[in-house]
Parts: sequence; structure tokens; C-alpha cells
Amino acid sequence: MKLFTVGPVACYPEVLEAMGGQMYSHRSKEYLGLHYDTVERLQDFLETENDIYLFSSTGTGFMEASVLNCVREKMLVCVNGSFGKRFADVGRAHGREVAVLEPPLGQPVTPGMLEEALSEDPGVEAVAITHNETSVGLINPLEKLAKVTKAHGKLLFVDAVSSMGGTELKVDNWGIDICFSSSQKCFGVPPGLGIGSVSREALEMSEEAVNKGWYFDLKIWERYHKQGRGTPMTSAIPQVAGMNAALRMIEERGGKGLYFDLYNRRNGKIRGSVERLSLSIFPDEGFESPTVSCINAPGGVGGPAVYEAMRREGFELAQGYGVLKKKTFRIGNMGYMPEEDIDLMLDALGKVL
Ligand SMILES: Cc1ncc(COP(=O)(O)O)c(C=O)c1O
Repeated sequence: MKLFTVGPVACYPEVLEAMGGQMYSHRSKEYLGLHYDTVERLQDFLETENDIYLFSSTGTGFMEASVLNCVREKMLVCVNGSFGKRFADVGRAHGREVAVLEPPLGQPVTPGMLEEALSEDPGVEAVAITHNETSVGLINPLEKLAKVTKAHGKLLFVDAVSSMGGTELKVDNWGIDICFSSSQKCFGVPPGLGIGSVSREALEMSEEAVNKGWYFDLKIWERYHKQGRGTPMTSAIPQVAGMNAALRMIEERGGKGLYFDLYNRRNGKIRGSVERLSLSIFPDEGFESPTVSCINAPGGVGGPAVYEAMRREGFELAQGYGVLKKKTFRIGNMGYMPEEDIDLMLDALGKVL
């Protein structure tokens, strides 16, 4: 089966090879060398001097950490689909008051909307934004939204689970306090690793936080990181080795700019073909995700029928998600994806339709 999923995605051969070695202790010289090399490569990739922590959880662990360490009472969550809703649920699950900014499905959060929401509600301490909402294939104008958030002096949490590694993220320049992702998306690594950068200000908030639990206490992560001990608990060593291999591979192939170009080319090819097949893309024009195309299923034929028919042709796409399950299907362009497989998949899609 050839994968055009939205995560986990197909892994690069270089990554799988790096992950296949024998285990060693997460306190060994070998692991610590690998850990800090990976962290430094990620800092370069994200253009940040902030600490980077590698959680042995998926990216959702950073949603928990953001709320537990940095929100006392109230946060504002921008919701463009299922993963924004999840962030709001995490806030409520920890007893925080959650204000929601939710444009109609398929539309982005605009700087004007955010400006209004923050002006009307000065009690909000932090803003959470899903950079790329995987469930509807939409990318928000993050740089502009970050500017508004920072002008109001709020902390900024960014769920970059399906954008980190697929499009630009300038953590320091844009002022992102916690920016997180998961290994199984744009880097083409198996699941099991949460990757997140954490700012000084976020750590200062953590210092005073009460009832923040232990596993995701950012001050504990900071202590181990600064003491050269890597992670407080057992590291997901194969995934870290896989991330390291992916980052080296990107560097060897010309750096992140070329990697983003590759994603744009794949995505443009898929979108172009889909439009030639007289189908339309779900989100508003100009806000289509560069990593996941969410496609309106042809009239009278549900998304699940297209998904099943493509499986019979040997291609695993992704079904629509949440309320769009029946109306759409999705094609991911993350991870290991030889160019010729994209052509084969698009030919099969034409046949199936
Ligand atoms: C935008 C977004 N946020 C959060 C998640 C949850 O990630 P994980 O399951 O790795 O915690 C996903 C997973 O698909 C996602 O696409």
C-alpha cells in the first residue's frame, strides 16, 4: 500500500535504518551525544535559541504542558477544526476557562478577528493557535496572528503538528512561546516523539504554577536539559535517532528551504490534478494547507467511497475528519513519497472518480 496519509506517514529509508540499531541507555554518552545534536539541529531548523524538549509522548503532550505550566485561569483557543477543539478540551479538562475564537469551518482566523477578541477580553493570559489544521486542510496566517498576540503581551502556543518540517516557522522572530509537533508528520519518522520549543517567559510562568503534575512539568525538563542529562524520564531513543537522521538528510539535500519547496511542489501537483478532475478544495482559497489537501467529494459520492476505492487500487489516502468525514477525503503529502508514486496515485484517482 502506498501511503498518502496525514500521519503517521511513510518513513524515509534513512530514518528506518537509523532506528534499527541496538538499544543503549538514555543516560549513556552515546544517547546524550545524539540527544543534544538533535536538539541543536532542531534549534537551527526552527530558528530559535529557546530550549527544545523531546517528550516521550506525542505532540498532544505539549498541549497538556502548555496549559498546566503557563495558564493560571484563562486562555483563548483559535478553533479551525478538530485539533483546535482538542486544545480547548485540554484547557477545560484542567479546569481553565477557555474562550474560543472559531470562524466558519474552512475559513482562517484573521488578524482582525484576533485583535478584536483580545481587545474585548484582556483577562486572557495565552493564545493557542493550530498552525495547520489537519482535519480541514487549512493553514492559518501564523506570522500575522503572532504579531497581534505579542502586541497584546500574551503567551503564544502553536500546534505545529502538521506544519513543522513542511513550511517555515521562525520561532524567535515570530515570538512563539511553545511551538510543538510530533515525529510522525512532516519529518517522516514513526510516532512516539513530541518535539517542542519553550521560551524563557513560559518557563518563568511554570516556576510559579501550582498543581502542574510531574511528567509535563517544564521546570523539571529544563533542569535535566541544562544539566546535560537529556530527558527526565526514558527517552524514545529510536525516534530520536530517526529525527536526527531526518534532519541530517534534509541538510544533505540542501537545507530546509529546498525541503519546503519539495513539499510545495508535491502539494501543487496534487491540488492541480484534483482541480483538473473537476473537484474542489475544501478551505478558502489562499489558506490551503501545504501538507494536506482536503478535497470535497464529488456530488452524490461520499468521501469514504473514494477512500475505499483508492485502497482497492493500492493507495491509502485519509478519510475526512470529524464533521467533514462524509463530505471530503484527504491526501497528505508528508514524509517519504517518491515522485513517481504521486503520478501513479493521481492516475488511480482519475480512474476511481
Ligand atoms: C494539527 C494536529 N494537532 C494535534 C494532533 C495530535 O497529534 P498526536 O496524536 O501526535 O498527539 C494532530 C494529529 O494528527 C494534528 O494533526
